[in-house]
Amino acid sequence: MEIIRAEKMGFCFGVKKAVETCYEISRKNISKKYILGMVVHNKDVVKEMENIGFIIVDEKDILEGTDPLKKGDTIVIRAHGTTSQIIDVLEKKEVEIHDATCIFVDKIKEILIERESLGDEIIFIGDKEHPEVKGIISFGKKVNVLKNLEELKESSLDRSKRYSVLTQTTLNKSKFLEIKEYLEKYYSNAQIFDRICGATSERQEATKKLANICDIIIVIGDLKSSNSKKLLEVAKAENPNSYLVQNDEELDMSIFSESMKIGITAGASTPEDIIKKIENKIRGNFNV
Ligand code: F3S
Repeated sequence: MEIIRAEKMGFCFGVKKAVETCYEISRKNISKKYILGMVVHNKDVVKEMENIGFIIVDEKDILEGTDPLKKGDTIVIRAHGTTSQIIDVLEKKEVEIHDATCIFVDKIKEILIERESLGDEIIFIGDKEHPEVKGIISFGKKVNVLKNLEELKESSLDRSKRYSVLTQTTLNKSKFLEIKEYLEKYYSNAQIFDRICGATSERQEATKKLANICDIIIVIGDLKSSNSKKLLEVAKAENPNSYLVQNDEELDMSIFSESMKIGITAGASTPEDIIKKIENKIRGNFNV
């Protein structure tokens, strides 16, 4: 048996920064500290943050005024960011905000605001239910959110207008290129911004490579993590013997056999200790 790790896997730059921000705050003597939603999409990380004294607060409660936050309390904004409405409420409450929004998400927000100020209308390609998208578009005035190329083709947008086109950071690169090609053909006044995060595409490429040389692929990630689910899709397309596992307790050892080459990869929100526990469980079971 051999265990091979993907060349790129696990915590990305933005997630690392958000988690470090929480640890930094926990080292200070702050009594009331909160995190807005899941700091990253991983329930073990969220549990760890609760263990070091954070309380998770819902966006919905903040908007409805049913949250426990008081003047002077501290709140961390997660890596995906949040909406302008939430920031307004928190500022009015005079809460101390530690914004751990990933710089790549912030950059898209900045471009959106700037392009609107120059008179462009925005086309945003992404999932309108995803917190990152909800956050970014809340800073715009009129943003047309379309999920994919099919929705773009079916839309009744006026093609002669001046558009700026932005996307979710985790959009699949090949899908982006198809959309770009379509826009260049039919939307002559569109300016297209490629702001897809490299961490996502690197992890997908590394997973694809791994799936082609291994007998089985274990993707480690939370069921709520969209980038982990995408890694599973990528792995399955190359190797149907691929599984998404959240932690070592969930790992079913009967899927392995002595002679296998096992590939391990992990989503951008999966911490190293969870990856190690899974590796150790396999090694311990097969004495490797
Ligand atoms: Fe940021 Fe990319 Fe991670 S946008 S949060 S570095 S996946």
